[in-house]
Amino acid sequence: MIFLFQEWTELILRWFHVIAGIAWIGSSFYFIALDLSLKQNKNLPDKSHGEAWQVHGGGFYHLVKYLVAPSKLPSELTWFKWEAYATWVSGFALLALIYYAGAELYMIDIVKYDLEKYEAVIISILGIVFGWVIYDLVCRISLKTNIYILISSIFILITVMSWIYSEIFSYRGAFMQIGTVLGTIMVANVLMIIIPGQKKVVASLIANETPDPIHGAVAKQRSLHNNYLTLPVIFIMISNHYPLIYATKYSWIIISIILIIGALIRHFFNIKHTGAKPPYWICFPIIILASVIFYISYLGKPQLTKIKNTASLIKLIPKETLVSAKEIIVSKCSMCHAREPLWENMKNAPKLVNLETSTDIINNIQSIHKQSVLSYAMPPGNISFLEDNERNLINQLYLSVHHLKNK
Ligand code: HEC
Repeated sequence: MIFLFQEWTELILRWFHVIAGIAWIGSSFYFIALDLSLKQNKNLPDKSHGEAWQVHGGGFYHLVKYLVAPSKLPSELTWFKWEAYATWVSGFALLALIYYAGAELYMIDIVKYDLEKYEAVIISILGIVFGWVIYDLVCRISLKTNIYILISSIFILITVMSWIYSEIFSYRGAFMQIGTVLGTIMVANVLMIIIPGQKKVVASLIANETPDPIHGAVAKQRSLHNNYLTLPVIFIMISNHYPLIYATKYSWIIISIILIIGALIRHFFNIKHTGAKPPYWICFPIIILASVIFYISYLGKPQLTKIKNTASLIKLIPKETLVSAKEIIVSKCSMCHAREPLWENMKNAPKLVNLETSTDIINNIQSIHKQSVLSYAMPPGNISFLEDNERNLINQLYLSVHHLKNK
């Protein structure tokens, strides 16, 4: 019953989270495309910035953008904020329900750090807060400086965090952690910067003052970041079904490259929405970067020991299998198959097949198998009474070597 309840809670939360996310990202995509498609027109009202005509659902829409605000405030205003908040709240609830409650399965990797559950949760929450604080600080400092410095600083911040978390948490936990950090930055941009700025503008308009244009500039900077972060965050959120991508050694680099690819794809559409010729060249860096991450996820998979020599193979064979087979072979074969055979008048091992040491046996296991497991050829005339159960044990050794070699 409890399990069923958990299952339902999780699915309903996830349902809600995805719907809220669609509403948020959908409206955000819509407004960005709208903003970029605005055209100037002399006949537009005072303080307006541009207009757009759209057709949808059987009607025509005429939209006019005002910068900073119209001279007279309308009596009713639709705000777009609950979509973002609801996405974050439901996302955090999911994180808590799945990742925090099941930290031992989804976040902790005892080989990296043997954390207690509560420690993992604290480290995760600290990272979420830290990510936002540092990001916000960098944005504030660099509002007036070069945008490229700002973008690179954010990129480095995320990459470093991604690396640190992949060193502390399980690969899956680290991936989701960075997704949460990025998602939180986006929602906090809405909650702490964009909406408060807009509220201040509205307040000054009501007070009949001229609003400070800085609010508009800051909001624009943050929505631009949100725009470019959207695709990478969605990638991370859906990637937990794909272990070959999130659970390899260098998945932290994959996150960084996805940041670039996602931003490039957004950039393509941003330019397309202005009505200009779409920058098709963007396909090339995307293809190159996609090949790089493809290779990186291949490189980061567990490196199984390549069995180069018999010595390392011997170490991997189950001890009992080797010992019992060796005992049989030494007692039933090596009177002939030895460097100094005991068999009368025998100078060398027949066909120079020595069967004395473990190395001898492993090196010849293929033909031993043929001679005394697949057939009764050896020992000749069953002279040393090799029994079927002993042949069976030799077969065990053969299978074990075969399995290791073909892994
Ligand atoms: C009485 C002596 C004697 C004993 C005991 C003996 N062999 Fe042999 N073994 C020979 C002789 C002789 C040949 C060469 C046969 C030939 O010329 O075809 C040979 C050949 C072989 C070869 C090489 C086959 C080839 O054609 O490459 C293998 C492998 C081998 N024996 C395994 C074993 C194993 C395993 C045992 C124990 C279970 C065993 N022998 C016990 C005498 C012995």
